[in-house]
Amino acid sequence: MEYFYAQDNLSLGQMAARWVARELLACPDLVLGLPTGSTPIEMYQYLARLVQEGLISFTQARTFNLDEYVGLTVDHPQSYAFFMHEHFWSKVDMPKGNADIPRGDVSNLAAECHRYDDAIQRAGGIGLQILGLGLNGHIGFNEPSHNMEIHTHVVDLSVATIQANTRFFPNSDAVPRQAITMGVGNIMQAQKILLMVSGERKRDILTKTLYGPVSTEVPSSVLQLHADLTVITDIKL
Ligand code: GLP
Repeated sequence: MEYFYAQDNLSLGQMAARWVARELLACPDLVLGLPTGSTPIEMYQYLARLVQEGLISFTQARTFNLDEYVGLTVDHPQSYAFFMHEHFWSKVDMPKGNADIPRGDVSNLAAECHRYDDAIQRAGGIGLQILGLGLNGHIGFNEPSHNMEIHTHVVDLSVATIQANTRFFPNSDAVPRQAITMGVGNIMQAQKILLMVSGERKRDILTKTLYGPVSTEVPSSVLQLHADLTVITDIKL
């Protein structure tokens, strides 16, 4: 594991963006796994700036998002598709067809999960998976549980996650109760993983993630078993 300390969320985003840029320059047809949430926003902004300055290009890259809420259309302001359009897709030079995200608004969710796993496979798997960290240790939307799902699947969101994500919705009743997420297997099969963690309130879960027992009750702890994990954080452990 490599561990980089950033002063604050802004420098964390910039460090992560430079790290991604380095990977992209070495491998222009990189397959990226992408997160949403507050933590990566600065990274997306900085990547867009590097593209605008002509220093990097996403024209040959492909991206797969980690997750999406069930029931939200792509133009719903709280959908992750909307977030990605707003913060990244509309700002960089990647062809539209190169960006994929699970559709949460389809009638056959099981078929959508299969489609997504297939698409990742056909792209040759994820080269670099970027992750945020849920307060309860979720990665993507893989919630604490007695078992771990390998493939893309539909998940019931935990009470803690619904509470944590209420800040983006008018009230907690408006937060979707389910999501589609890549499984832990999809994530762990990535060649490289970059974990971004910001804010004191995540100190405890970051400690458990990196140094606690590997347990399905802390899904992020499985990252200890990955051969190429980099952590960028503004929390000094
Ligand atoms: C969300 C997402 C995760 C994200 C996490 C942390 O629920 N499903 O992929 O990493 O929560 O979000 P934030 O960065 O806002 O703390």
